[in-house]
Amino acid sequence: MTKLLELKSLYAGYDDKVILRNVDLIVNKNDFLGIIGPNGGGKTTLLKVILGLIKPFKGSIKFNNADDNLIGYLPQINTIDHKFPIPVREVVLSGLMSHKKLFGRYRNEDKEKAKGLMDQMGVLHLRDKNIGELSGGQLQRVFLCRAIISDPQILILDEPNTYVDNNFEAELYTILNQLNDHMAIIIVSHDIGTICSHVKSIACVNETLCYHDSNIINEDQLKTYNCPIDLITHGDLPHRVLKKH
Ligand SMILES: Nc1ncnc2c1ncn2[C@@H]1O[C@H](COP(=O)(O)OP(=O)(O)OP(=O)(O)O)[C@@H](O)[C@H]1O
Ligand SMILES: [Mg+2]
Repeated sequence: MTKLLELKSLYAGYDDKVILRNVDLIVNKNDFLGIIGPNGGGKTTLLKVILGLIKPFKGSIKFNNADDNLIGYLPQINTIDHKFPIPVREVVLSGLMSHKKLFGRYRNEDKEKAKGLMDQMGVLHLRDKNIGELSGGQLQRVFLCRAIISDPQILILDEPNTYVDNNFEAELYTILNQLNDHMAIIIVSHDIGTICSHVKSIACVNETLCYHDSNIINEDQLKTYNCPIDLITHGDLPHRVLKKH
């Protein structure tokens, strides 16, 4: 098992406000980790720490291989400034930004790869549109192309299924399963029922992180994890238990 990333006793937040306390997490090659937790629990903050966008107050974060294309990231769509006048094809190619020299040109093979991905995600016909003209689901697909174009070792997705329709959601998980053969995946979602049936392990983030080494999680475990959210349990037939909070 190759370890890609390790967080130890990590504290992080904004200004002097602590949002994440004492977080331990290990991500190995081929992991498929689902992150669940209530609004404001610190999921996006955790991803920002992993991405190096915010520095931890305390504790450590270690990458085993500080490679250029270590991480591909699909941000939570409501955090994207989509009024920025940039065409879809450029957004997709910008996922390779760290690979080309500043002001360098993209290679033809990069452009072909971008085209193939846009085709796979059903957004090729939108390639010359500005991202401001897209619907939420279209934007999400475009940013998914951007996140995976560099073939990262870790793919991080912050609520990739918020705006997408049921058809594409099913397709999304098929694509993620294929990608998981050669990259670790961390996915944040509020749709616990759906992610539990696709991921290999689950972490509940609510101020601190509780890791669960399986995709099966029951009500008692959620209680212990202080994770006040709806829950799905798997039996022969998956069923949802809606809890009042
Ligand atoms: N840039 C920021 N400056 C100050 N506080 C912030 C900032 N971003 C987030 N927070 C605060 O940190 C806490 C955790 O936010 P975060 O976005 O990590 O939650 P989340 O678990 O991703 O929630 P959601 O499910 O709504 O996406 C919230 O209380 C939020 O108000
Ligand atoms: Mg969030």
